[in-house]
Amino acid sequence: MELVMAIKCKLIVLLFGFVVINGGFGQELPRTYKAPEFDLEWRKPTNHPDRIVLSYGEDPATSASVTWRTTAEIDTAYAEIAMATAAPKFWRNAKTLKAVTNTFDATNINGAEVLANYHSVWFTDLQSNTTYAYRVGDGKRWSEWIQFKTAPKENKDKFSFLYVGDTQNFILELWSRLIREGYKKAPDAKFIVHAGDLVNNAHNEQQWQEWFDAGGWIHASIGAFPIPGNHEYQNLSPEATERSLSAQWEHQFTLPENGPEGLEETAYYMDYQNMRIIGLNSNTDHEKQAEWVDKVLSETDKEWKVVTFHHPLFSASDGRDNKEWRELMKPIFDKHKVDLVLQGHDHSYARGRVSPNENVLDGVNMRDKTGTVYVVSVSGGKMYGLRKNAWDGYDAERDRAAENTQLFQVISIEDDRLSFESYTAVGELYDAFDLVKKEGLPNEFVERNSEAIAERRFSNTIPYQDPLPKELEQLVLSKYPGFQVSRVTFVNDKEFTGYKVRLDKGEERKELSLDVNGKILD
Ligand SMILES: [Fe+2]
Ligand SMILES: [Fe+2]
Repeated sequence: MELVMAIKCKLIVLLFGFVVINGGFGQELPRTYKAPEFDLEWRKPTNHPDRIVLSYGEDPATSASVTWRTTAEIDTAYAEIAMATAAPKFWRNAKTLKAVTNTFDATNINGAEVLANYHSVWFTDLQSNTTYAYRVGDGKRWSEWIQFKTAPKENKDKFSFLYVGDTQNFILELWSRLIREGYKKAPDAKFIVHAGDLVNNAHNEQQWQEWFDAGGWIHASIGAFPIPGNHEYQNLSPEATERSLSAQWEHQFTLPENGPEGLEETAYYMDYQNMRIIGLNSNTDHEKQAEWVDKVLSETDKEWKVVTFHHPLFSASDGRDNKEWRELMKPIFDKHKVDLVLQGHDHSYARGRVSPNENVLDGVNMRDKTGTVYVVSVSGGKMYGLRKNAWDGYDAERDRAAENTQLFQVISIEDDRLSFESYTAVGELYDAFDLVKKEGLPNEFVERNSEAIAERRFSNTIPYQDPLPKELEQLVLSKYPGFQVSRVTFVNDKEFTGYKVRLDKGEERKELSLDVNGKILD
């Protein structure tokens, strides 16, 4: 008898279970996203060094910097550096350098609310092409010994670097796998270009902690080359009338200070072997930077010229055109025959090029010769749709694109050949091309995307938005004729189980809540 009861109860539970996981139209309810929670303690500084990040100076054959964080109690700090050897006691040859220590008092900044000390050291007069080991600490508490290699003076050796677009969202959750896959693909990468929007909220300590945690010792071992995006600018307080650069930026990065006045460490350049790479701050002072970039491109005799900034000259997504910025910069890049431009901002992937001849897109000309190649890429977890008409109307040709795909890029230069490869977060080759220098001629262009996997779009990948069952969509659209469903979020919590739906008709917008049976609740 008891057994029968137990079976009956189980059946009831099973039946209810069935009811709970299914909506009114027999549809299985989608899984819901719940952001992970973090204790406040998780992002707080301690007396032990954390957030250790390496960068290079203008000449990475002879100079590098390291920056790290502790509590404000640690007011004197040091870095030690030695030529690394296989014998463990290489520290016998170490030099101890006193750090520059600055207090970061962000106790009154919304989202930051922290007091910390940041410490930094420039390593100068290093020997080229040499593996060094360094550690940071306060004389008692030390980091591990961390190795990096200075650039060779020789220009013809092959070297590689990584480039990533917006990290910005789901940083710890999803950027971690991307950057670690990038490291596995290119463990010898000399530096990492971060093309802006490293975080979503400029001053947010939690998000910066995620950025440092996701990259871990990769940040300490491979030089960072970061430039700020629009998300690195935000008001410092509700009363502030202007957006300010992330309060953390200048504390936690130590970068070449060779940029235009007032934009130090947000616009700067570095000469790595036979390449000059220039970072621009596309958020501000455009005219000043146009003048400056023209000058630093004129002054170099480096064979390869690469420029990186956040807002793309040719947008990957609709409604995000940066016309004034393009009209200002493109003639300068054309004039100096910039080889490659690395950008972010659009949360999708687009790679294409302009004609090597002034403003003429000529199919025959473009087949194996090219002007500047422009790339937009995204590395974090937020995804936008592609521009409907590719790069039509831009006087540029888009050759390859992706939606809904986290990507990193490996760029290798060996003498007169640059090889560009874009990889997905699971390590598949997504895009590739080579540029070859030809004396007195435009770059030879070698399309290699036939080596890559099929193109990825929202239509052939896992849905990014929560799906709205067809029956519910029809029901809603019959009540709101002429509208289109533009966003769906499925919610399943104590207060509400159902769909939050955004409808758009031109300028008109409606936000609805629907229960799983399609009943409109407000
Ligand atoms: Fe972004
Ligand atoms: Fe952006």
